[in-house]
Amino acid sequence: MCGIIGYVGNRNGSDVVINGLKKLEYRGYDSWGVAVKGNPSISIQKQVGKISDFKDVGSFPSDGIAIGHTRWATNGKVTKENSHPHTCCTGKIAVVHNGIIENYQELKKELVSHTFSSETDTEIISHLIEENMDSGLGFEDSVRAAITRLDGRFAVVAVCTSSDKVVAARKGSPLVIGVGDCAHEGEFFVASDIPAFLEYTNKVVFLEDGDVAIIHDGIRYSDFYGKRVERLPTEISWGVEQAELNGHEHYMIKEILEQKDTIRMAITQEEDRIMRVADMINRSFGTFFIGCGTAGKVGSIGSYLFSSIAGKHVNCVVGSEFPNYHDFLTDKTLIVCISQSGETADTLEAIEVAKKKGCKVVSIVNVMGSTMMRMSDDYIMCNSGPEKAVCSTKVTTAQIAILMKLAYACAGRLDEGNRFLSSVSTKVEIMLDDKYLENVQFLAKRIAGHESMYIIGRSHNYPVALEGAIKMQEVPYIHAEGFAGGELKHGPIALIQNGTPCIALVANDDVKKDTIINALEIKSRGGFIIGIAPENNEVFDFWVPVPDVGLASPIVNIIPMQLLSYFTALERKCDPDKPRNLAKSVTVK
Ligand code: AGP
Repeated sequence: MCGIIGYVGNRNGSDVVINGLKKLEYRGYDSWGVAVKGNPSISIQKQVGKISDFKDVGSFPSDGIAIGHTRWATNGKVTKENSHPHTCCTGKIAVVHNGIIENYQELKKELVSHTFSSETDTEIISHLIEENMDSGLGFEDSVRAAITRLDGRFAVVAVCTSSDKVVAARKGSPLVIGVGDCAHEGEFFVASDIPAFLEYTNKVVFLEDGDVAIIHDGIRYSDFYGKRVERLPTEISWGVEQAELNGHEHYMIKEILEQKDTIRMAITQEEDRIMRVADMINRSFGTFFIGCGTAGKVGSIGSYLFSSIAGKHVNCVVGSEFPNYHDFLTDKTLIVCISQSGETADTLEAIEVAKKKGCKVVSIVNVMGSTMMRMSDDYIMCNSGPEKAVCSTKVTTAQIAILMKLAYACAGRLDEGNRFLSSVSTKVEIMLDDKYLENVQFLAKRIAGHESMYIIGRSHNYPVALEGAIKMQEVPYIHAEGFAGGELKHGPIALIQNGTPCIALVANDDVKKDTIINALEIKSRGGFIIGIAPENNEVFDFWVPVPDVGLASPIVNIIPMQLLSYFTALERKCDPDKPRNLAKSVTVK
């Protein structure tokens, strides 16, 4: 939900910022904007659309202080006026912001003498800073005084014509500082996410909530009230190539294919950490898996896996609904938050609710230093490397593998679980060859002309059907719905017409026969049956084979759904990496 970047150094600031914005586009791509602090004024360019689609982004002074923004619209329509950076009345202050200022309307009423040029909540910040500077405060103090007035979640970066400082602050939305390496000392970056500046440095400081960073020829940290705080850089191990396309046409297919490695990377964990978390689950009086969208479906798959592997009941609730469960929470409750980004606002709010009740919190996240990781009592990293396509793929299977590993650990059978998951990882590696991709691509051509499709699964594969539907909705924009196989005859079967594509997710398990019967029921009404299954069956009009991996069937059954979503999107001329109306990390409620 919006990506922001700031730069201070000897390079051409606009080049660094434009480059960084292209790397942050996955966070939002409704519009973009760049501001360079020139002498004597700030030079700004902004446009509606994706910055990567613009050959000519306009001209900028070559100064080394610049900020930029790529927007996912929340407050205000997708227009040039609403694009960031936003300035004050005189244009001497420019601000980029990620988050939501909940009290902007009240604050706006106070600033009657100011002229606003956008509908956004962000613009309030530049005018508040201006007001403070007009009353005699310096730039740095004016930013501090402004942000203490804001309610909501925000990451803010501000520049001003009368200062050589860039001031950044965070509360609730992510902000990371990049510290130039030895060859480029005195060079600093600030961004929503590391890939924005990873090609320049891997030395990072994760700002804490309530931090302000004052960046000049060095960097100082304080709280919102000016009290100094110390923040030390850490080196992160991601390589630049992990965040690049590396010859692939899209991040989505790159990340799907990376599952040849990422399942193994996910299960490679410190044993102590796994045992610690398993112990927390075993000792809790009520565990909840919490996630949103795909991560929520992973939680549901996890609750089936915990039941069959560890004989344990685990609740699964989507982040936005979790606050409604507060009556069931005690200091013996454990919540396990599942999230790729670690920044999803609904899940973060669930943590806040849980913490108020004294619950323990564990997170399973892919982004080191993310808010969720830092709010948790313990965490497990997915180790998948950066996931840049908006649609989650490799991290989904990594999360399922981690939950499975935890279930085995809870059952006291971790070694068995490790051996099993390692064999699953090998089978995925073998499965994802060119011939496999061609088969799914052929299927995509057959279904691309349809506007609706249905997916059925039972037991562990019921949430996989729901996840398959998300994939077909968000990337090729097909109206897809997932059902528990048994539910079909209670209503949805009325939707089946001649040729309607229906996917049956099958595994070699207790419910296989019932799923096949449901597929037969659909076929009798004219449905075109696509079987994702370890063995072919005469009911299937099209078969997508998957390895027979027992309880790990959700891992292997999800992968062909991801491929189908990708290839169908290509057939329908949709952008697989940047689907309309979506953003990679959803940092608003
Ligand atoms: C996944 O394909 C979706 N883009 C979306 O549902 C996503 O899983 C959800 O927004 C949660 O994100 P998180 O894993 O970063 O918390």
